[in-house]
Amino acid sequence: MSTSPVVVVHPSKQSLADAAAARLVTALVDAQTRQPEAQLALTGGSMGSAVIASVTAVPGRSAVDWSRVRVWWGDERYLASGDPDRNDSQNDAAGLATLGLDPDKVHRVSGPDRSATAEASAEAYSETLREHGQGGFDVVLLGVGPDGHVASLFPHHEAQRVKNAVAVAVHHSPKPPPDRVSLTFECLERSREVWFLVAGDDKAPAVVAALADGADRWDVPASGPHGSHATLWLVDEDAASALETGSDPTG
Ligand code: 6PG
Repeated sequence: MSTSPVVVVHPSKQSLADAAAARLVTALVDAQTRQPEAQLALTGGSMGSAVIASVTAVPGRSAVDWSRVRVWWGDERYLASGDPDRNDSQNDAAGLATLGLDPDKVHRVSGPDRSATAEASAEAYSETLREHGQGGFDVVLLGVGPDGHVASLFPHHEAQRVKNAVAVAVHHSPKPPPDRVSLTFECLERSREVWFLVAGDDKAPAVVAALADGADRWDVPASGPHGSHATLWLVDEDAASALETGSDPTG
């Protein structure tokens, strides 16, 4: 089952982050009423960290049993543990560690200090994912690049073509660093809810392209992943500025 995208527009990047954080707390509480653990995939980029910073300030955040949240990343830059350019380091700096997660349930993608190659890292990450449902995330957060990339799946990049895989090594990324590890579309598609977090007018063309009828994920990767229960585009007014509003300007 796959859902159609629903766009929710917020007045600013900060209000988008705050609203996504409140929504995330609710989604995790709901997930924990359905099953013992909630599974969450995080994203890098400024939006991923902004949402975490906002979660640390949501009044109802203690309604989540954070020790029963299993955390993953949709992608990671293949850099050594603790490198400030890693997605997890940036999420940590935003306050991830203050939430009360169980460190054994926070699954970081190993970098060159803990794996021989990005391929070995992707395989180890895939193995851990397989032990916990091969994805099947309750919520996946995805930032979107101005080129329409999500996770580390870039337009016209061969990593998109890998079949029967959970996570893949990505080389020659058009955005530095060149080496990365990414979840595949196949894995992302097993998610209950997929949330795109997009702010800024530089993203407006990518938002239009991803939501266009017949968009092809080879050209616009952000058009690819859909959740089985919800596909949400949580955007600010700038990122939404090129979308047709449906309102009649003459009316
Ligand atoms: C990376 C970034 C990247 C980011 C998007 C959205 O791995 O290079 O994490 O994929 O998530 O470009 O970034 P913003 O959230 O800052 O818009």
